[in-house]
Amino acid sequence: MRVAEALWSLTAYLGRHGVEHPSTDAEWLLSFVLHCKRLELFLTPDRVLTAEQTERLRALSVRRAQREPLQYIVGEVDFFGQKLHVDQRVLVPRPETEELVYQMQQYLTENFFKEPSSSPDIAGGEQKSLAILDLGTGSGAIAIALAALFPSIKLTAVDCSAEALAVAEKNSIENNVRDRISFVQSDWFENVEGTFDVIISNPPYVSEEEYRSLQPEVRCFEPKGALTAGEEGLADLKHILSKAPEYLKRGGFLVMETGCTQHTALHAYEKTLGYAKTQSTLDLSHRERYFWAWA
Ligand SMILES: C[S@@+](CC[C@H](N)C(=O)[O-])C[C@H]1O[C@@H](n2cnc3c(N)ncnc32)[C@H](O)[C@@H]1O
Repeated sequence: MRVAEALWSLTAYLGRHGVEHPSTDAEWLLSFVLHCKRLELFLTPDRVLTAEQTERLRALSVRRAQREPLQYIVGEVDFFGQKLHVDQRVLVPRPETEELVYQMQQYLTENFFKEPSSSPDIAGGEQKSLAILDLGTGSGAIAIALAALFPSIKLTAVDCSAEALAVAEKNSIENNVRDRISFVQSDWFENVEGTFDVIISNPPYVSEEEYRSLQPEVRCFEPKGALTAGEEGLADLKHILSKAPEYLKRGGFLVMETGCTQHTALHAYEKTLGYAKTQSTLDLSHRERYFWAWA
């Protein structure tokens, strides 16, 4: 079989099985099997696949047709410029979370890492040696991206899942930031020691009802414990919001990714907790998605 035929038939096959972007996924799978870039497929449409490549493509295509996420099949994802291994032990990091990292990058750059060193000292400590806590680290996506962006920061990455922490630690080694991240298995703050300049979290925030309407890729393959929370998805967000002040240095702040209908409830709850200031920021679809709270 030639590349052009493989792309055509695989696109049709994935489309019949309800895959949302069948032609893109066909390109990814074929380039993965041929160890080439997607663009090369279009430059060599007459390249003939070996029997072994054809068989490998067939096996991977069946998995995708069964709606296994593409990222689990190819075993990796690009997150904010870092290559991360992912499998069923961890959630596939989402573009919304890249946006959270982007907003954090902007904030930290503006307030702490701007040259010439401009000022604020949120913690009364040395500028440029911030301590950051990533709660619910999963694949390590947020912690690893921030460590790579800011070479002087130190991070603590927490997850309740030992399996997720194993993936995160491996990813930190492969991205050369292991020495600046401590991994802690903990039920949120339970085993966390010390205080932090910044707490960042993308906790589970999907309600049971929303969960039932999600794509098979999510429901049938991704860890449910990484996605759903009680109280209409608010339970973990509220828990973190209520406990964070004990773990924040003076003037430190918390930022969480949330569902886009949860901010009214979070603002009402935050008023009972004595934060100095809170703010909602938007995702790229202009939905309220990130909840910031300054101690
Ligand atoms: C939505 S995923 C986020 C993963 C990763 N930070 C990301 O953004 O791709 C939520 C993570 O929180 C973890 N988690 C769920 N409940 C937890 C708890 N009680 N304590 C600590 N981590 C928890 C899950 O194991 C999962 O890795």
